Amino acid sequence: MSGPAEREEAEADGHPPLVEAIAAGIAHEVRNPLNALQINLEILEEEISEIVPDRNDHVFEVIGKIAGELRSLDNFVTEFLRFARPPRLNRQAVAVRPLLADLVTFVGPECSRKGVSVSLAVEGGPETVVVDAFQLKHAVLNLVLNALQATPKGGAIAIEAGGDDRALEIRVRDGGEGMSEGVLPRAFDAFFTTREGGTGLGLPIARRIVEAHGGRLDLQSREGEGTLATLSLPAAGAA
Ligand SMILES: Nc1ncnc2c1ncn2[C@@H]1O[C@H](COP(=O)(O)OP(=O)(O)O)[C@@H](O)[C@H]1O
Ligand SMILES: [Mg+2]
Repeated sequence: MSGPAEREEAEADGHPPLVEAIAAGIAHEVRNPLNALQINLEILEEEISEIVPDRNDHVFEVIGKIAGELRSLDNFVTEFLRFARPPRLNRQAVAVRPLLADLVTFVGPECSRKGVSVSLAVEGGPETVVVDAFQLKHAVLNLVLNALQATPKGGAIAIEAGGDDRALEIRVRDGGEGMSEGVLPRAFDAFFTTREGGTGLGLPIARRIVEAHGGRLDLQSREGEGTLATLSLPAAGAA
């Protein structure tokens, strides 16, 4: 659904409709065959396992590699579509603390697998905000995943919320590897990544979501010391 207000907003952020058209093409022409490949690979794996009972056989290693590549392609397409399609906001009044608590519950298992702790502190700021909860969560999730990827075992990620009655501030802090002076200015560039298997779309997507809400997303970072991502948005959504 896209009402005229959302439409205007989509165009106001300067994204050319061509990108949207390309996105629609990719969604159809790449995603469908990709899904078919994934399903057929599963069928193939089942049929081969009837002929080759040894799960350690080389053939399963090959299948595993193909499945892995298909997964990262699928992940890239999903991220690309999220980036190329202007965020259409479905705003509702949302309580801040439960939204962030949900997110912590969601990333908790992945953090503990890596031996990284994650904490949440909500102090001051609006209790509720009028936002698209799904999209805002996605934006914060991208920041938390980056923090997790940059943090070694034994490290910590802190999510803090604050601000005042008019504006909510969410901070994601890590004491991980940080960014060099060469990396930091490019971190928001689409497709810029220093990570193997990275898409370079996590931060641009997060920023677009936040800006669509009339807010801002900024990074401070020091190599070897860590990173602070600060997301601020008006309590009532876009001004
Ligand atoms: N918390 C962080 N600590 C260190 N580097 C970061 C952090 N967040 C982002 N970066 C840098 O910014 C780049 C772009 O991030 P992002 O847009 O999320 O794409 P991706 O995670 O796919 O690389 C990362 O590859 C990394 O170099
Ligand atoms: Mg990322």
